[in-house]
Amino acid sequence: MPQQVQGVVAPGRNEPVRVETIVIPDPGPGEAVVKIQACGVCHTDLHYKQGGINDEFPFLLGHEAAGVVESVGDGVTDVAPGDFVILNWRAVCGQCRACLRGRPWYCFATHNARQKMTLPDGTELSPALGIGAFAEKTLVAAGQCTKVDPAVAPEVAGLLGCGVMAGIGAAINTGNVGRGDTVAVIGCGGVGDAAVVGSRLAGAARIIAVDIDDRKLAKATEMGATHTVNSRTTDPVEAIRELTGGFGADVVIEAVGRPETYEQAFYARDLAGTVVLVGVPTPDMKLELPLLDVFGRGGALKSSWYGDCLPSRDFPMLIDLHQQGRIDLGAFVTETIGLGDVEKAFARMHEGDVLRSVVVL
Ligand SMILES: NC(=O)c1ccc[n+]([C@@H]2O[C@H](COP(=O)([O-])OP(=O)(O)OC[C@H]3O[C@@H](n4cnc5c(N)ncnc54)[C@H](O)[C@@H]3O)[C@@H](O)[C@H]2O)c1
Ligand SMILES: [Zn+2]
Ligand SMILES: [Zn+2]
Repeated sequence: MPQQVQGVVAPGRNEPVRVETIVIPDPGPGEAVVKIQACGVCHTDLHYKQGGINDEFPFLLGHEAAGVVESVGDGVTDVAPGDFVILNWRAVCGQCRACLRGRPWYCFATHNARQKMTLPDGTELSPALGIGAFAEKTLVAAGQCTKVDPAVAPEVAGLLGCGVMAGIGAAINTGNVGRGDTVAVIGCGGVGDAAVVGSRLAGAARIIAVDIDDRKLAKATEMGATHTVNSRTTDPVEAIRELTGGFGADVVIEAVGRPETYEQAFYARDLAGTVVLVGVPTPDMKLELPLLDVFGRGGALKSSWYGDCLPSRDFPMLIDLHQQGRIDLGAFVTETIGLGDVEKAFARMHEGDVLRSVVVL
């Protein structure tokens, strides 16, 4: 029997989000229904609400979640009812050209549920990143459920489902930060701070945090940044060069998603250095760079989709490191809130008051 639950819907471009009754079908073959326990508010949810991702309104928002599998459809063997899982938006297909070349972290045909969740009048919902977890329950492809140790609180574990994984992976997987590297992170929200944590874990010698908000810089220092630059008052390119012997950083991670911060990242790296773009731009944004500088500065300009993670490999590993006290995922949780508070949480994110607001159910 389809179930009716409460979920947070973005009805149209820039309209306030609303808690609505949504209809969850029984899981079909390869699908699972998950009872959501916690879901973090990521900037990408705000991008969806603003129409910055696509126009497929209404959206069921939320995609950074943990919960317990309630039921599974035919043929599901990897997870079972009662399993504690983090939801992922990279259920690898195993068959696309990336998977077949042994690079499943790029999978070009990731799985989502085939059936649609709807409003009671039958209107189909577009779940954010194929998840839709600001809801009491959601329907996903079973491969989107990654089983982890239930000893970790859901509001902490769920963060690995998007922003924290994206940031740590941007440093470790995409940027390939290594022992002794200098790293600069531009934009120290949840994703940027996770890049700081990842850089520290990888053994970076210097981690320079750049933001326009001193509160974010203070937090980045707690997370492991060795130096901070307020780019509202100081030229970040100059400052990063000064802090790196005049040369620039080996790896610069852009975690804002704007042309001006990408340009800063481009010029703040050393020759043959790496720029990692993890911030998500909107369709209107453009950037012009002298091609000679692109050539002459060498190195690598990379984008990081979901931190190039493999959920089955990376989520349990990071949960282990958290339990061993080698990273503190709990430090990302600024506040826990209810389903009805998501609009307020967007405002607080916009004001820079929070690293992560996490909806707890
Ligand atoms: N690539 C991925 O897989 C992936 C995954 C999750 C999120 N994201 C994206 O990462 C970005 C950051 O997400 P978040 O949840 O950390 O957002 P956030 O709003 O929590 O953080 C953004 C930070 O950037 C800072 N900032 C804004 N303008 C700046 C500027 N001009 N210079 C320097 N700092 C500036 C803000 O003060 C804030 O600290 C978003 O674009 C989000 O969509 C990407
Ligand atoms: Zn694939
Ligand atoms: Zn996200």
